[in-house]
Amino acid sequence: MATLAQQALLLLAVAAVAVVVDVTATTTATAAATAAVTGVVRRASTVFRAGEASYSCFRVPTIATVDGAMLVFAEARRTSCADQSPKDIVYKRSHDNGTTWSELARLVGNHKGNHTYRNPYATVVSQPGSAACATKLVVGFVNSTLPEPWINQHRWSCNGGKTWSSIERVNLAPWEGVLAGPGTGIQLSTPPHAALATAPRSAGGVVPPSSAAVGDEPESKQQQPLHSLQRQQRAARILGCGATGYHAGHSMNAVVWYSDDGGVTFNVSSSVFAQMQECQVVQLWNGTLVLNMRNSHLNACRCRAYALSHDGGVTWEGPYWAPQLIEPVCSAGLIRLGGALYFSNPHSASHRVNMTVQVATSDDMRWHVYQQLWPGPAAYSVMGHTPASEPCIVYERGSSSPYEELAFAALAPAN
Ligand SMILES: *[C@@H]1O[C@H](CO)[C@@H](O)[C@H](O)[C@H]1NC(C)=O
Ligand SMILES: *[C@@H]1O[C@H](CO)[C@@H](O)[C@H](O)[C@H]1NC(C)=O
Ligand SMILES: *[C@@H]1O[C@H](CO)[C@@H](O)[C@H](O)[C@H]1NC(C)=O
Ligand SMILES: *[C@@H]1O[C@H](CO)[C@@H](O)[C@H](O)[C@H]1NC(C)=O
Ligand SMILES: *[C@@H]1O[C@H](CO)[C@@H](O)[C@H](O)[C@H]1NC(C)=O
Ligand SMILES: *[C@@H]1O[C@H](CO)[C@@H](O)[C@H](O)[C@H]1NC(C)=O
Repeated sequence: MATLAQQALLLLAVAAVAVVVDVTATTTATAAATAAVTGVVRRASTVFRAGEASYSCFRVPTIATVDGAMLVFAEARRTSCADQSPKDIVYKRSHDNGTTWSELARLVGNHKGNHTYRNPYATVVSQPGSAACATKLVVGFVNSTLPEPWINQHRWSCNGGKTWSSIERVNLAPWEGVLAGPGTGIQLSTPPHAALATAPRSAGGVVPPSSAAVGDEPESKQQQPLHSLQRQQRAARILGCGATGYHAGHSMNAVVWYSDDGGVTFNVSSSVFAQMQECQVVQLWNGTLVLNMRNSHLNACRCRAYALSHDGGVTWEGPYWAPQLIEPVCSAGLIRLGGALYFSNPHSASHRVNMTVQVATSDDMRWHVYQQLWPGPAAYSVMGHTPASEPCIVYERGSSSPYEELAFAALAPAN
């Protein structure tokens, strides 16, 4: 335990860092972005900036790489940056490995009314059995417009997000309105459940998604019957996780769900981690799954908790604690890419500052600091990869508040 004097020194150090960042940021925004290209950072850019397109701020990013492009989705908060602010889900696309980004497009919501869509959650599903939809992009979100129970919904695309399906209801029974991630869903690549589902479930292919233009007012669309546009496909298991328990005022729990039909139907694992919150799943090289979880400093380590599954996500054991992964109680990013695991979060046990990527290169998960990205205010982050297979990150950061921009950085692979 740090003494009070040590804690005071630490706070002073954080304040000093913030002042330095402030000075840089007032020079020019471009200079701040350029300054981030240090160490293993190969490329840095701003994806969304507060105030853009009349939105108060952009938060809770998720990322998907499909058909040689990257898409970043985020909550676009309208009347204020508060969690309960009315908000849309928007996205941008990059065709140059994250150097530049397209104009903003809307996945759901139309910049008016009090509709509140939150926690965009992208999963890229490889379906080699399907000629019509070999790579399916599924983006889930929660409609929390009305008081609880909220509902889970998603849209999916078979052409890298050029056109989208209608908005469909997602059944994560026994839960409703589960706040996915924040982060990304994964598809298993190591057994068990990494092989294609044993028998093709249907002779039919996927019906191409409706050509609804991006940004169409969803409420004006005729609601499609649940899953009517999809036929079950052969696909290795996909998994997601999130925090639930809002319903009926319970404290939050982390739960995991999985699908063996490419994201049409889901089963929710019976393991529930009480008082655990935002989370991300990753598969180790030996096949074991890790569920890494935010928690309210439930252990003296003030660090992330995790659970393990040896049966493809059906049952879980834990929680255990990861002392190297300290956190200020915040969402974190985590992926496996090639020979390394990459974990991102504000590397501080007390404040949302100091966005840092840590790396582990074997199943025993011995983490070490890989790159400090931003010493100043920083909060949520998601790890992904560029079309060139570089690890990359999108994270919330700013000079006086963490919610001034969603910044992108592509890194040199660790391994
Ligand atoms: C993205 O990176 C890959 C691999 O380095 C490269 O082949 C490709 O040309 C890059 N694309 C652009 C548009 O820069
Ligand atoms: C979200 O919920 C609100 C309130 O029930 C409803 O008016 C709106 O149509 C829903 N949006 C979608 C996309 O289903
Ligand atoms: C949103 O607006 C509608 C129509 O004005 C209203 O019925 C509903 O109660 C509002 N919802 C919230 C959460 O304020
Ligand atoms: C999903 O749940 C249903 C209903 O309990 C069960 O029949 C089915 O076997 C489960 N599927 C998987 C892949 O666990
Ligand atoms: C994989 O490695 C982890 C150590 O991080 C261990 O807990 C787990 O039992 C291993 N799984 C298998 C299948 O060996
Ligand atoms: C910030 O994170 C770096 C690792 O990126 C660590 O060495 C440093 O101690 C942290 N600083 C503070 C003030 O927590």
